[in-house]
Amino acid sequence: MKTIVTGIQPSGRLTLGNYLGAIKNFVELQNKGEYDEFMVFIADLHAITVSYQPTELRKHIRELAALYLACGLDENKVTLFVQSEVHQHAEIGYLLQSIAYIGELERMTQYKDKKQKQVEGVSSSLLTYPVLMAGDILLYNASCVPVGLDQKQHLELARTLAERFNNKFGETFNIPEPLIKKVGAKIMSLQDPTKKMSKSDPLEKAAIYLDDDENTIRKKIASAVTDSDGLIKYDEKNKPGISNLLTIMSCCTGESIASLEERFKNSGYGDFKKAVAESIINLLIPIQQKYLSILNDKEKLDKILDDGAMKASYFAQKTLSKVKRKMGVGRVK
Ligand code: TYM
Repeated sequence: MKTIVTGIQPSGRLTLGNYLGAIKNFVELQNKGEYDEFMVFIADLHAITVSYQPTELRKHIRELAALYLACGLDENKVTLFVQSEVHQHAEIGYLLQSIAYIGELERMTQYKDKKQKQVEGVSSSLLTYPVLMAGDILLYNASCVPVGLDQKQHLELARTLAERFNNKFGETFNIPEPLIKKVGAKIMSLQDPTKKMSKSDPLEKAAIYLDDDENTIRKKIASAVTDSDGLIKYDEKNKPGISNLLTIMSCCTGESIASLEERFKNSGYGDFKKAVAESIINLLIPIQQKYLSILNDKEKLDKILDDGAMKASYFAQKTLSKVKRKMGVGRVK
C-alpha cells in the first residue's frame, strides 16, 4: 500500500516557493496516480505554534483549501482536509512526544530560527512542532512525503521516531521517504538570494505571492538582486540571484536550466528578467482566476473538507488505536 502524505501551514499568503517547491509536485504526483491514498491537509495546528490572529487563521484555512484546488488538486483523487478536524493528529503528536528527546528537538534549524523571532515568548509547541509533524505522517503510515528542502530535517526526525517506536513497541510504522525535487526545492528570496523565499519575510518584494498581480510580479522580478558580470549562467555560489531566476523560470516553463542558459546567452539581465516575469505570470494568472470562484462556492468547499476529514479520520483512528494498544495506554476491551 503506497500512501502519500503532505501538508502546508495556513499562516498567510503563500509564495512562489510554496508552489514550486511543494504544491506543483503534489499535483504532478496526483496526476501520475501511482499511489493508493494521497492525504493533503491544511496544517492549522502547526500555525498556532507562533503568535497569530484567530480570525485571520480561520480565513487562511479556507483560502488554502481553495488554493489547493485552484492549483489542480482534485478532491476525487486526493483526500483534502483540515488537520485540526481530525483529532487523532493532536493525540498521536502527544503520544510520540514520549519518545522524542528534547535535545533532538532543540537542534532543529527551523526551531532555532523561529525562536529568535518570537516577541511574546517561545511556546513549547514551537519546540514540539516536528513531533506533531511526525505524527501527521505516521498516522497514515506514509511511504512518501513530498516537501521542499527546508522540511528535510523534520522528515529525518519523523523517520527516527518511526524507527524508535518500532524498536521499542514492535513493528508498527513504515519508514517514510522524503520526496524532494532536484530543481525548485529551495526557491530563494529575490532580495537576498542566499536566504529562502519565505512567507514571513518582512520585505514585501523579497517574495512573489501567489495572489500578486501581473504588474507586481514584473516589478518584483525587475528589482530582484543579481550581480554585475552580465552572464546568464547557473552558479549557485557566485551568482545566487541569476541562479535563482533560472531555477524559477525552469520550474515555471519546464525548460531545463541548460536550455535557458543557451537561449539567453546573448541577452542582458533586463530582457532575461522580463522573460522570467512572463513565465511566472503565465503560471499564476490561470490559478488566480480559478481560485476566487472556488473560494466563493462555500457549500462545495465545505463538502469537500467534510468528506476529507471523515475519510482521514477513518484511517487515522485505525493507526491511533494500534499505537495506543502497543504503548499500553487505555484498557483492553
Ligand atoms: P510550510 O507551510 O512552511 O511550507 C509548505 C511547503 O512549501 C515548501 N516551501 C518551499 N519550497 C521551496 N522553496 C521555498 N522557498 C519554500 N518555502 C516553503 C515547504 O518545504 C513545504 O513543503 N511543517 C510543514 C507543514 C507540515 C507537513 C506535515 C508537511 C505539517 N505536517 C506533514 C509534510 C508532512 C510546513 O511548515 O510547511
